[in-house]
Amino acid sequence: MSISTYLTTTLESKQDADYNKICEEHKHLIEAVPKGNGWSVQHLYNYNGFWLHPNSIKNNLLLHAYFKSQPTDIFLASFMKAGTTWLKALMFSTINRHRYSFSDHPLHHHGPHASFPYIDIETYPAISDFTHLPAPRMFATHYPRTLLPPCITSCKIVYVCRDPKDVLVSKWHFMSNHRSKDLPPLSLDEAFELFCQGISDYGPFWEHVLSYWRASLETPDKILFLKYEEMKKQPEVVLRKLAVFMGKPFTAEELEKSVVEKIVELCSFETLSNLEVNKKGVQKFGKFLEVENRHYFRKGEIGDWKNHLSEEMKQRIDGITNEKLKGSGLILGVNST
Ligand code: A3P
Repeated sequence: MSISTYLTTTLESKQDADYNKICEEHKHLIEAVPKGNGWSVQHLYNYNGFWLHPNSIKNNLLLHAYFKSQPTDIFLASFMKAGTTWLKALMFSTINRHRYSFSDHPLHHHGPHASFPYIDIETYPAISDFTHLPAPRMFATHYPRTLLPPCITSCKIVYVCRDPKDVLVSKWHFMSNHRSKDLPPLSLDEAFELFCQGISDYGPFWEHVLSYWRASLETPDKILFLKYEEMKKQPEVVLRKLAVFMGKPFTAEELEKSVVEKIVELCSFETLSNLEVNKKGVQKFGKFLEVENRHYFRKGEIGDWKNHLSEEMKQRIDGITNEKLKGSGLILGVNST
């Protein structure tokens, strides 16, 4: 055996041993932590204050063990259904605007989720591939800030949040489509109750949002805190802010040539949801998870909760939101913009 083969084999078996150790740790954790009813699977587990799918807990352990950030990395963080798909498209097309033409753009041919990796699922063994991504590398995550390894929290993070009532309704639709066939359907009433108790993937919603909001106040140069509703109302204004934050401000010439408007148009709900790839295509995450792109595009509106929640349900969620966000300076919901 050559020395290089020997070193590679030794390294690989050390990595395998580390990996197996993490799997063991994961098994013990799952047995020890509280569990609650899941939305797509039977149970979610409370890991350090947040309700996670068992695989997300394992991936979090792997992320802490293996992920190495680079100073130029940019992360997109969000609670599920707060606008991740839209932001992915906007960030990808803004960073790469000099590489691609608007008439034949990668977003015309692949779903927004193929633009950059989602580290909650794709950490191992894909982690070794991340070193080959061009700088600035971009990654997406749904983990709350408190569950991210310190090497990530020192990078730039774009966070997007949304009225929890719309998040709840959007998540209920999405999770119902992905709920295990072995389980009975989850009614909106049940989902509502669980959401209010904080039990949904990556929940409690409010603690998730606050984890990034507080950090954005402490280090505004590191966290750009966006609201879905503001993006809907003034997409060009938000996109310009996003470009500055990512270190790629639009030049006077680009503004003159309406590049901002072109990116907004390319990434709009109307454009993306009508593309063949987003009507028929499938997005693979890691080895096992596949999601049909069409499930990422439902209505794309502010206030669809009005078609699903009663006045009483609205009052209850707004009450929790006011209570949880009291004193934080953050306003979400009806008067958020
Ligand atoms: P609705 O279910 O309310 O329609 P995420 O991307 O975080 O999974 O969030 C999905 C939500 O964002 C869905 O909300 C989806 O329709 C909406 N969405 C997806 N792409 C969008 C876009 N380009 N512009 C606005 N909303 C978008």
